[in-house]
Amino acid sequence: MIKIGSLQLENWLIMAPMAGITNLPFRLMVKRMGAGLVSTELISAVGLSLNNKRSLIYLRSLPEEKPLAVQIFGTEPQTMAIAARIVIESGADLVDINMGCPVKKVSKTGAGSGLLRDLKNLEKVVSAVRQACDVPLTVKIRTGWSPDKPVACEVARIVEDCGADAITLHARFVTQKYSGRADWDMIGRVKSKVKIPVIGNGDVREPLHAIEMKAQTGCDGVMVGRAAIANPWIFRQVLQLDKGFPIETPDLTERRALIMSHFSLLSDFMGEHKAALSMRGILLRYTKGLAHSSRFREEITKIKDSESLISILDEYFAFLARLES
Ligand SMILES: Cc1cc2nc3c(=O)[nH]c(=O)nc-3n(C[C@H](O)[C@H](O)[C@H](O)COP(=O)(O)O)c2cc1C
Repeated sequence: MIKIGSLQLENWLIMAPMAGITNLPFRLMVKRMGAGLVSTELISAVGLSLNNKRSLIYLRSLPEEKPLAVQIFGTEPQTMAIAARIVIESGADLVDINMGCPVKKVSKTGAGSGLLRDLKNLEKVVSAVRQACDVPLTVKIRTGWSPDKPVACEVARIVEDCGADAITLHARFVTQKYSGRADWDMIGRVKSKVKIPVIGNGDVREPLHAIEMKAQTGCDGVMVGRAAIANPWIFRQVLQLDKGFPIETPDLTERRALIMSHFSLLSDFMGEHKAALSMRGILLRYTKGLAHSSRFREEITKIKDSESLISILDEYFAFLARLES
């Protein structure tokens, strides 16, 4: 169990914010699979403050996914404070500040991971958002900009002093982007420096890794990113493992039902045609590792509406069922 400020989560597993992935339908899927907290992708504070339509679309939510964390990024303290108020008014249960995005377009303005190179402004940003924010506030950082300057422990203390309610560490340097190993020792070090809850992140690739990260680092929560893209059921599996139960992997019937649920949620979110096209990429993920998937992959490119989706899916799953019998 993990409590972030006044927010008691159902469990210690958190879905990582991921641009282009953690839209409302995906968040609902992982929530149903047991994630204790879901988050939007990073949203521009400038965009929000200017009422930018695209930024506001990211705020669409449904009661079923709650509690919802909304992640904002920016560099100017007052704009960040305004953005925090906007997302709270739209229903955010928690505001998260992005201090890890390695994309140049973001970091060169001093936002995202750029804040890790300007700790004075980082402090101003957290203080301003804290003042504007009457819901729990978290900050998501990386170990530092580059290996010659790890700043995670220093930053953790700064954000705690500014009143943040928890800190997430993606234990890689910005220069590593998403490659190389995450340094879990650094998560343990940050945990030893602050009293607020620490959420560990990086390299949880299978269910056991989440249990191991928690045991090795003493962190309060574990955030799962890429592993949940193809495996939204990883949350259920970690919880099963944690309780000493055997891990269940969805069988063909459940996998097909999950795919159709995802499609139905996407159709509600973006309309059936766009949803069918989006399913092409999503199907690749849901069928990763299944037999003869390369043949299916070719078929996937023909999906253009719900009829073609269902017929291609049914044909492939009937083929898989025959292989199993
Ligand atoms: C496609 C993609 C998009 C991401 N978008 C965000 C984002 O919007 N905000 C954020 O804080 N981190 C973002 N991240 C980083 C993840 O939240 C996470 O920190 C990282 O993937 C490490 O966790 P993992 O090893 O479990 O994947 C993104 C990562 C990927 C691969």
